[in-house]
Amino acid sequence: MRVLSVDPEHPDPAQIEKAADAIRTGGLVAFPTETVYGLGADAMNGDAVARIFAAKGRPAWNPVIVHVANIADARLLAAQWPDDASVLSQSLWPGPVTLVLQKAPQVPDIVSAGLPNVGIRIPAHPVALALLEAAGRPIAAPSANRFSEVSPTTAAHVIRSLGDRVDTVLDGGPSGVGIESTVIDLTGDVPCVLRPGMVSRDRIELLLGREVDYRRSDDLESAADGRAQASPGTAARHYAPRAEVWLFESVDIESLQAALSSRLDDDTNNSLRVRALLIHTRDGAIAGRMERRRMPATPELYARELYRELHDADDAGVVLLLIELPPRHDVWIAVHDRLTRASR
Ligand code: TXA
Ligand code: MG
Repeated sequence: MRVLSVDPEHPDPAQIEKAADAIRTGGLVAFPTETVYGLGADAMNGDAVARIFAAKGRPAWNPVIVHVANIADARLLAAQWPDDASVLSQSLWPGPVTLVLQKAPQVPDIVSAGLPNVGIRIPAHPVALALLEAAGRPIAAPSANRFSEVSPTTAAHVIRSLGDRVDTVLDGGPSGVGIESTVIDLTGDVPCVLRPGMVSRDRIELLLGREVDYRRSDDLESAADGRAQASPGTAARHYAPRAEVWLFESVDIESLQAALSSRLDDDTNNSLRVRALLIHTRDGAIAGRMERRRMPATPELYARELYRELHDADDAGVVLLLIELPPRHDVWIAVHDRLTRASR
């Protein structure tokens, strides 16, 4: 594996060309986007895309997103381009939104996991855009982590998760949005959010001038995989750190304290490493031996730091991670979604 470091705003064309050459010759390139790092391959080369699935250990039923440099290239991948796609692509691209559309026949079936649809987005990151331009073709890229792990927001996260399973890592600094794109399905009668992200359903409804459904696609996938969805412990672990995660609301601090105290009492040799990620709860409000970290109180800043904190907890050998839930308000939906997944 080689690491190519580039300036996030003005990447060196010579370094970009090396990465683009790897893409054109069927290699795997991890690259920064504004959401998380992607593990990229030539989307039109089925063998190259198969290497993504192998490197991630990703099940074949989970389709990958295709990244393009401009709207004209996006249209070439779709069999139909509904008015909603025009509105959303013009208003929200480049940006953290993936549109699911009927796929054009030339898109390899492995990209869409055999589905008739393809997810497409233009990333808002100068390094990703430079790579797409230089490669001269669409790049299929899921998040650059092993299946079910927390997505990477730095090159170091990618290297730790994938190591030599990736040929080239473009290091363009930390991702600014910090959680994955909003995925919106435009193939049905009613648009449907399949994964919440920092572009909210409200914003999409406002742009389209009509109601939009919500149905989490990973949940459908685990059903399609034949696993029981609701039974604890068998649900697909996605976006999850190794540490055991307890989510709590500040109003439930007493029951948290009771559970924590009994856990700490059992830990007679003080070996259990505990860390708390707090938003509003005062440091002194929870008693016991633990590290306390302060999380930002706005959704944008919280999302930007969340995965870094989850990776950092694992690096530090944290065994039990207590996370204070943000307010139950619409602006926090995407963060809540990732926290819930991290705790499974
Ligand atoms: O922000 C992002 O979207 C990042 C960066 C790298 O672009 N990519 C990413 O990819 O998160 P991945 O593969 O980890 O997640 C893709 C999500 C999955 O939930 C997948 O099921 C859904 O998008 N998806 C992709 N193609 C789809 C399709 N054709 N139909 C339905 N869902 C699709
Ligand atoms: Mg992923």
